Amino acid sequence: MDIKIHRGSLLHFPRTTNNPAANYQYFNDGVLVTKNGVISHIGDAKDFFSITVNQQLLNNGGVVLHKGLLIPGMIDSHAHFPQIEMMASYGKQLLDWLNQYTFPTEKKFANKDYATAQAEFFIRQLFAHGTTTASVFATVHPESVNAFFEVAQSHGARMICGKVLMDRFCPEELRDTALSGYFQSKELIERWHNNGRNMYAITPRFAPTSSEHQLEMAGKLAKEHPDTFIQTHLSENVGEVAWIKELFPEHQDYLEVYEANGLVRERALFGHAIHLSKREYQSLAANGASISFCPSSNLFLGSGLFDIDSVKAHNIGLSIASDVGAGTSLSLFSNQADAYKICQLQSTTIDPFESLYLCTQGAASSMGIEHLVGNLNPGTEADFIELDFMASPIMAQRMLRCTSLAEQLFAMTTLSDDRVVERTYLNGNLVYKKGTNVCGHSST
Ligand code: GUN
Ligand code: FE
Repeated sequence: MDIKIHRGSLLHFPRTTNNPAANYQYFNDGVLVTKNGVISHIGDAKDFFSITVNQQLLNNGGVVLHKGLLIPGMIDSHAHFPQIEMMASYGKQLLDWLNQYTFPTEKKFANKDYATAQAEFFIRQLFAHGTTTASVFATVHPESVNAFFEVAQSHGARMICGKVLMDRFCPEELRDTALSGYFQSKELIERWHNNGRNMYAITPRFAPTSSEHQLEMAGKLAKEHPDTFIQTHLSENVGEVAWIKELFPEHQDYLEVYEANGLVRERALFGHAIHLSKREYQSLAANGASISFCPSSNLFLGSGLFDIDSVKAHNIGLSIASDVGAGTSLSLFSNQADAYKICQLQSTTIDPFESLYLCTQGAASSMGIEHLVGNLNPGTEADFIELDFMASPIMAQRMLRCTSLAEQLFAMTTLSDDRVVERTYLNGNLVYKKGTNVCGHSST
């Protein structure tokens, strides 16, 4: 039996809620116990150590003491691992950015060794930024998916990934067909979905790069494998939305193209969703699909201002995501800071507890995985991180002037980068410690 006891401040959202600011659980001096990689206890340290055997463990050095705040590992609901090397590519909006930078980069992932090296780099960087679960686009090459899942499995991480389906409007080397895409995806689902902690996402890149036949085959896969995820892009850019009208004149709006093919359902994750009609919001809600808000990407590509109020008013599942490599940071704290600014530009204020919720329990719940990750409830997999609120001199000085947890959380988020992540644990094992190269298994 592998039991580990952690003592420190703890913060998480134990339940799905519309009011995270009133529904967080915080222990200033708390205890988190993990047993065989699963959380077995969360509570107050005084109560826990009032029991003699626990006190003896503390005296014998059997307890890991944390100066920082422990929170659940964060969940990035939309990112592209092959694009980490092309972050910060200059000067273009979505459709030109895809042609000029993205497609040439993604061609390299036909090479399995290259894909494996980049998957390793990406996943280690996720840990360094406090993210322990992500829903990730690979490329059109099945080997890029094998590479990603093999690396994820070697670290024991809970990850979602899928082969990009794309049979038109892209270079020849990145093109599959409706049938090859279907059969390759099916084989990958059979190999990887629910294999260890891996889970599969059926991944049409976005409607313009898939023929009607390919979308139909994607829908067939989604029906045959109802507990897989679906990930794609929706209404990110006005030029893209205009192109959809030309390509699919028979459909009244962008979402209907996906809907007509059975791709709008629970576990369907739509990236961006900026320029939506009332009908599209209603349909996303009615079908139990969810939206990934990608703040730094939306700013970087000049895509538009995400309307969080409409999404909340329709009660649609929502999370905050990096969308690397259009996103400019893998840090979900930095992305929360950008989300705050996007809301400010629309005279809406996002609460710091709410934005953290959208990267943890809220994200998990929007994806239907809150029984696995996203909180610190007993029974949940023991993926958690330690945050250092004194990570930089400016942050440290600001903290000393904060008078509440909300204020501290907001200032830390606004000023943050990967330095705030002190340690990252997966299945109760340390996989990252700031300033070191830890990626093995150790207890502290
Ligand atoms: N739409 C279609 N493909 C992509 C992509 O790779 N990144 C982003 N941000 N939007 C897309
Ligand atoms: Fe994306």
